[in-house]
Amino acid sequence: QDHLLGIEPLAPDEIREILDLADDYVALSRSADKHADALRGLTQINMFFENSTRTQASFELAGKRLGADVMNMAVAASSVKKGETLIDTAMTLNAMQPDLLVVRHPHSGAVDLLAQKVNCAVLNAGDGRHEHPTQALLDALTIRRKKGRLHRLSVAICGDIAHSRVARSNLILLGKMENRVKLIGPPTLMPSGIAELGCEVYENMAEGLKDVDVVMMLRLQKERMDGGFIPSEREYYHLYGLDAEKLAHAAPDAIVMHPGPMNRGVEIDGTLADDINRSVIQEQVEMGVAVRMAAMDLLARNLRARRQAA
Ligand code: CP
Repeated sequence: QDHLLGIEPLAPDEIREILDLADDYVALSRSADKHADALRGLTQINMFFENSTRTQASFELAGKRLGADVMNMAVAASSVKKGETLIDTAMTLNAMQPDLLVVRHPHSGAVDLLAQKVNCAVLNAGDGRHEHPTQALLDALTIRRKKGRLHRLSVAICGDIAHSRVARSNLILLGKMENRVKLIGPPTLMPSGIAELGCEVYENMAEGLKDVDVVMMLRLQKERMDGGFIPSEREYYHLYGLDAEKLAHAAPDAIVMHPGPMNRGVEIDGTLADDINRSVIQEQVEMGVAVRMAAMDLLARNLRARRQAA
């Protein structure tokens, strides 16, 4: 691949290739010397037009561990605030000869559009409700390491499915790897036609969680609700917040995941989120650095090969 714009274009073997390399980078990141040379001599620019803690920090760390020159574009202080279009901003940065451009944008499709205009590798760090591919890859790596496999598992994705690029990328990836995907949430937060993507849809947590191996919780994404229906947090927690009682419907060794940022007492009970016997939320963050190292390493190899061939 020339870019990482979504999970949709990836074949199962390409997903496995990223995860296998990410396993090596987990080992490197746990060693005394965390550095490798895969991106030495390359320039990585991170452009985040939406807030981020985990994704931006881990892309920055991933680039630095691999030896890249990493620049975080300060969007708030940039010419975007003076009316410059996304494409003009991207073309300006492109003229500075970056090799890797990491982009988060509030509009679905914005990162794909940008990738058509620049001549470096583009990584989607989340675009609107569309895709968040590195989140799905880090979730897949976490599941594979905890469960010993990434196929024939039953996975529940719970909560605000309608506004979630995390849910979309995850259900595509899990489907490609032949898992059973169950979506659980109120009908108002369930996109129409979602069952056509091959997943089961449930309104009730007890029914949907029955015997699942993995429980993935999602944040209520109020910033994308556009003045539409916003549930009361108290009622939402009562019906859809994950606590020990609801988790008892899942398999006894089911793991609990959350992409963050997490709202304790809204989508998940705080004690359960901190329970290291069930929750793998901290492991997800660790896997995020390794997956981003692997994705950038593989894209850089392709970029170098294309440039050598040109
Ligand atoms: N999971 C995730 O994308 O978190 P951030 O918004 O903090 O990057």
